[in-house]
Amino acid sequence: MNNQPSPYGSAPLARQTRVRIPHLKQMKREGQKWAMLTAYDMYSAIIFEEAGIQVLLVGDSASNNVYGNESTLAVTVDELIPLVRAVSRSTRQALVIADLPFGSYQASSEQCFHTAARFMKEAGAHAVKLEGGTEVLPQVEMLTRSGIPVMAHIGFTPQQEHQLGGYRVQGRDEDAQRLIDVAKAFEAAGAFAILIEMVPGDVGRAITEAVSIPTVGIGAGNQCDAQVLVWQDMAGLRTGRLPRFVKQYADLRSVLHNAAKDFALEVSTGAFPGPEHTF
Ligand code: KIV
Repeated sequence: MNNQPSPYGSAPLARQTRVRIPHLKQMKREGQKWAMLTAYDMYSAIIFEEAGIQVLLVGDSASNNVYGNESTLAVTVDELIPLVRAVSRSTRQALVIADLPFGSYQASSEQCFHTAARFMKEAGAHAVKLEGGTEVLPQVEMLTRSGIPVMAHIGFTPQQEHQLGGYRVQGRDEDAQRLIDVAKAFEAAGAFAILIEMVPGDVGRAITEAVSIPTVGIGAGNQCDAQVLVWQDMAGLRTGRLPRFVKQYADLRSVLHNAAKDFALEVSTGAFPGPEHTF
């Protein structure tokens, strides 16, 4: 018998049901932290859900991590929809969030609604995420009114990297208050959570204390209600200089590299396939 405490926290796992927005809000009230990872395909989604990851984000980071682009700007709605569909089809418990890609929501609330509706109808997303500040408040209001849960992404917003002058920590000094006000405005507009990227730890804490909805940090210190990482970063697939906020929990790159090398060697020597793999 498994007597371990539930990795999903009291409400969701006890009933083995899908994690839903009220569960996340309840976890904040109870001071219970939760984890979110990106996922872009069936196996990663299944493995992360089995490991107790409550929320899966099909991020526009698929642009870099799946499609091989330089930045998140290039990925399209049509490219993300099949990935979201794969993740939501493969999971039973995790809440699946679809990231709205650059150019698919900024123009108007109507544009935003139509894009978000595609992710909900065609891909089975349970919620969407969008980036920005007060300029996208009407979009958040429109989605909320339409019954589409929305997570707002503030701080460093990669879709605005050219305007922000590259990957830079946001919210330093007097800019901290602006970010706190933006977070409060998103809460008032109906956002169910705020993702905070690359801000000083004390700003992550101040935002978390200022709102009653959950905050999800990535490079925002350990006082946020939840934490998120891109899975390829977390599992050690990525090489080169990593952002300071990344912690690698495995060296999957070496595992895969060695497996592929062994396969190639055994094929070249004729050791594979052996009799046990032959009909
Ligand atoms: O697309 C993404 O992966 C993100 C990260 C900040 C988690 O938005």
